[in-house]
Parts: sequence; C-alpha cells; structure tokens
Amino acid sequence: MDKLLIRGGSVLKGEVAMSGAKNAALPILCASLLSADPLELGNVPQLNDISTMLRLLGDMGIGVRHEGDDGLTLDGSGLNNPVASYEMVKTMRASILVLGPLLARCGEARVSLPGGCAIGARPVDQHIKGLQAMGAEVTVEQGYVHARASRLKGARICTDMVTVTGTENLMMAACLADGETIIENAAREPEVVDLANCLVAMGARISGAGTDIIRIQGVEKLHGARHSIMPDRIETGTYLCAAAVTGGDIRLTRTSAAYLDSVVDKLMDAGCEIVVERDAIRLTAPAKLKSVSLRTAPYPAFPTDMQAQFMAMNCVADGVATIRETIFENRFMHVSELMRLGANIQIEGNNAIVRGVDRLEGATVMATDLRASASLIIAGLVASGETLIDRIYHLDRGYERIEQKLAALGASVERVR
Ligand code: UD1
Repeated sequence: MDKLLIRGGSVLKGEVAMSGAKNAALPILCASLLSADPLELGNVPQLNDISTMLRLLGDMGIGVRHEGDDGLTLDGSGLNNPVASYEMVKTMRASILVLGPLLARCGEARVSLPGGCAIGARPVDQHIKGLQAMGAEVTVEQGYVHARASRLKGARICTDMVTVTGTENLMMAACLADGETIIENAAREPEVVDLANCLVAMGARISGAGTDIIRIQGVEKLHGARHSIMPDRIETGTYLCAAAVTGGDIRLTRTSAAYLDSVVDKLMDAGCEIVVERDAIRLTAPAKLKSVSLRTAPYPAFPTDMQAQFMAMNCVADGVATIRETIFENRFMHVSELMRLGANIQIEGNNAIVRGVDRLEGATVMATDLRASASLIIAGLVASGETLIDRIYHLDRGYERIEQKLAALGASVERVR
C-alpha cells in the first residue's frame, strides 16, 4: 500500500494550478442520468472518487468517453440498469447521488445504503423523505433503498438540517417531476450552484440555487449540454494552509477566492497576506502564524472540509485556538495522529483546544479520511525530519496529483511502498 514520505522544513514558493472541484463533479456526473443526450464536461479532476462514480454510471449503461486530460462526454442513451450495488456504494458515500436522477428518469431505482463512514453515521433519511414527499414509494430491503414512482410530483420539501448531497439529489429528481418543487433549508454551497448551472444548461428550470429556497419547475425531458466544473475551493484552501504553515509565498491559479471568504478571513487573522486576482490567489505567510479559533457550519460559514487543515496550522501557531466541529460528530480522528507528531490538543466534546507548540517532529502516522490526510501533510511539511503517512489512498480520493503539485512548490514529498 502506498505511503507518502515528507521531509519537513521546505518553504513553499511558486505557482501551481488548481483542479476542478470533486464535490461539484460528483453530482454533475450523476446529472448525465437525467437525459438521453450527451453531456460534455470540462475541468473534471482525475481522482479515485471520480473513477468510482464513472464505473458506477458505466454499470448502469451510461457511455463514458474521455477527452484529453480533463474532458468527459457522458452518453445517457443506453441507461438500462437503475441499480447501485453495495460493492460500489460502500467505497463512496456520494454514490447516493444517483438515487434522485435514476428514479426521475427510470421510474425506479435500487441503491445500496451507504454504510457507516469514518467521520460519522451520515444517514440518508432526508434524501428519502424528500423523494417520498414527491410521491415516491420507498422501501428499504436487504440494505438497499428501493424507490418507485411512475412520475414524481412537485412538492414543498423542508429538510430537517442543511444537507449538501440531499439538496443535490432532490434538485435533480425535481427537474423531471410534474409541477413545481420547492426545497426549503437548501444547502447554499457553491457546488449546489454549479450543479444547478449544469442542469439549467440541460434545459432544467431552476431558480434560487445559492439561497436556502430553491424552486424547480419540472420539465418533460432534459437535453445535452456543455459544462465546465468549478475550481475546487477545498483543494485551494488546503494549499493555502500548506504554504502558510511553512512561511511560504505562493500563487494558486485556475481558482477563485469567491467561494473562500470564510477561509481567507481566517488566514488573514492568522497573519497571512492575501492578494485576490480574478482567477488566482496569492498568499504570503508571516514569520510566525497566530492561532485562529473557528466553528464549522454550512456555507457560507467555515467549511468542515477545511477543519483538519486549520487544526494542523494551529498546532504550530502562536497562542491557543478552539476548533468547534458542528457538522460531523466524529471528525477529530486526525487529532491523535497530529499528537504523534508532538501537537498539544485536547478534545472536549465537539471542541478541540489546540495549544501551539514550537516544533513538531516527524513520525509515522495514519491517514483516516480524506481531509485528515491533508492535515497530516500540512503538519509533515513543518515537522523536523521525516513524516511517513500511511493509507494515503484516502488522499487520492480527493487531491489530484498532490505530490507533483507540492513538489512544484518546493516541498520534498515522495510516494513510497
Ligand atoms: C457533503 C460533501 C462533504 C462535506 C459535507 C458537509 C459531497 C460529495 N460531500 O457531504 O465533503 O463534508 O457535504 O459540507 O459533496 N444528514 C442526515 N441525514 C441526511 C443527510 C445528512 O442526518 O439525510 C446529516 C449528516 O450526517 C451530517 C449533516 O447532515 O451531520 C450534513 O451532511 P451532508 O451535508 O448531507 O453531507 P454530505 O452531503 O454527505
């Protein structure tokens, strides 16, 4: 199994391009289920989660053609098998995103329930509740959600909590429903907006994406379209943290600060200088970072997907920070690994209290989930000596060519067996 060896101490400098957003690409790939016409996509990141989703869609009869490095054409004309098996779904929870579009287009879907996941129980009750409100008959049998509806009907749905993939699933289903659907308490994440833009290009009638009330007027069918995936705001934030912790000076291109306000604000509070350009962001780090406290919450507040990276930064900052996780109940698994590197962190319920230390020291650590692995890289970059990160398959799910990108900025990073 691959591991990542980091020799700490390099100062990150230079320029690197960011990739398309994983969390926008995954639902947008599923949008191909809604039409028999081709969907042409650009800026699709090459990641294991994307390959998994393409295999899943391929099993259902979607044609997949790669065009160059980041282009894809998906052909929904052969869709004939509205089933997502346990084998597929168990490796990636986002597979649940096929449920809404499959049901809307085929009148039936069988999707394995995603199992427990490392960062919390993560149920899908809101996805199911929304589809039931739209008239679907849903049963759960032998670990599979089985949903049927000859045609979904528009409905008013208010989710109990803000759910990103829940909003996306229901928005996709509603595109082909009979009448108007209103999703209240909708997720406002930029990835929801990117999906809505793609669906609108396919002929959907959606308004309000990016606010907490989304209205969808159902149409008979959707057609083909072209869409370019938005830049990955979490990848961008991760590289900014990596540069900040090493005292670096970097410029990230093919990205945008537009969706990163809460992260940029915290980096400035930590003492970083940030210059925002139209399609690029430059960060210049201070000699010593200041601690920054934060609380995760749905967009536009601070993203849970950046919590672990800021934890790593706080480990070597000046002062004491409190990090409060409000989205997932078990998202502090990186804490014990950071402590193996010498960090001083105390967990009290869903708060982590991080006391900055003068130095971290390299050790062997284990990646437990995608963003936890990013936090270990950030810590490894500033630790003295060598840090060996085990189980980096988590990293390959969400960071495209991370060793090459870090190496381009001057880090000493090597994949070893
Ligand atoms: C998405 C992102 C993930 C991010 C998360 C929160 C994708 C592919 N993944 O995950 O990277 O960390 O948003 O920003 O976009 N919940 C329920 N019942 C449901 C649905 C959700 O109880 O039916 C709970 C979850 O357990 C969690 C909270 O709601 O506590 C938010 O989860 P949700 O927004 O659904 O996360 P995902 O969409 O899975």
